[in-house]
Amino acid sequence: MQKVSPRDFFTVVKERGAVKQFDPSFSLSEQEIKQLIEVANSAPSSWNLQHWKFLVIHEQTAKEKLLPIAYGQRQVVDAAAVIAVLGDLQANKNAEAVYTPAVEAGVMTEDVKKRLVEQIEQTYSTIPNAPRDEAIRNASLAAMQLMLAAQAMGYATCPMGGFDPQQLIETFSIPERYLPVMLIAVGKAAQPARPSSRFPVEQVIVWNRF
Ligand SMILES: Cc1cc2nc3c(=O)[nH]c(=O)nc-3n(C[C@H](O)[C@H](O)[C@H](O)COP(=O)(O)O)c2cc1C
Repeated sequence: MQKVSPRDFFTVVKERGAVKQFDPSFSLSEQEIKQLIEVANSAPSSWNLQHWKFLVIHEQTAKEKLLPIAYGQRQVVDAAAVIAVLGDLQANKNAEAVYTPAVEAGVMTEDVKKRLVEQIEQTYSTIPNAPRDEAIRNASLAAMQLMLAAQAMGYATCPMGGFDPQQLIETFSIPERYLPVMLIAVGKAAQPARPSSRFPVEQVIVWNRF
């Protein structure tokens, strides 16, 4: 892991903002990007199926290709890298690969594995929206974790939903199995994020029931 001075979690959360202007001269090594993705990859997921893939777009030519897809938003060319967080629409297929080592390591019984696999298959085959909902829900957790990791490591981020998913799929040859969830621009801020506000907490809490 890159050496960063330890900062309080709450400070990291408070400091994060959606940065719109990045320093185009700043680059991140593949090793540094890998460190970020390692943290994202430790996010929780339904049945631990790890419904995510991270398409790292860091070559200048690739970022230029992304510019029209992201409707001309400059973050995608000026940031050191753009990470396309993809949700796995067939994460049920990960079950064997996730549970077999757990059984071998003695932390899961064969019986528990069998029941989990049945539950997963039941969900994926009978609830029409499940594959998509699960892909988006779980990949989003990884995306948030990636942004906080970046912030803790001293980088700036911008989450982006403003892009054409079909064009992204075609341009970057994304297989059918994966659904673009969001882009995350990562780099060094040239300008701090604009101040943003939130509704008062009293307004967003509902105690026990609506
Ligand atoms: C799913 C999602 C999609 C977003 N899409 C864009 C985008 O396409 N372009 C952009 O500049 N900001 C985008 N944002 C950033 C939001 O505008 C920003 O997070 C929000 O205004 C709150 O500001 P803050 O993140 O600085 O606190 C997006 C944020 C999220 C979570």
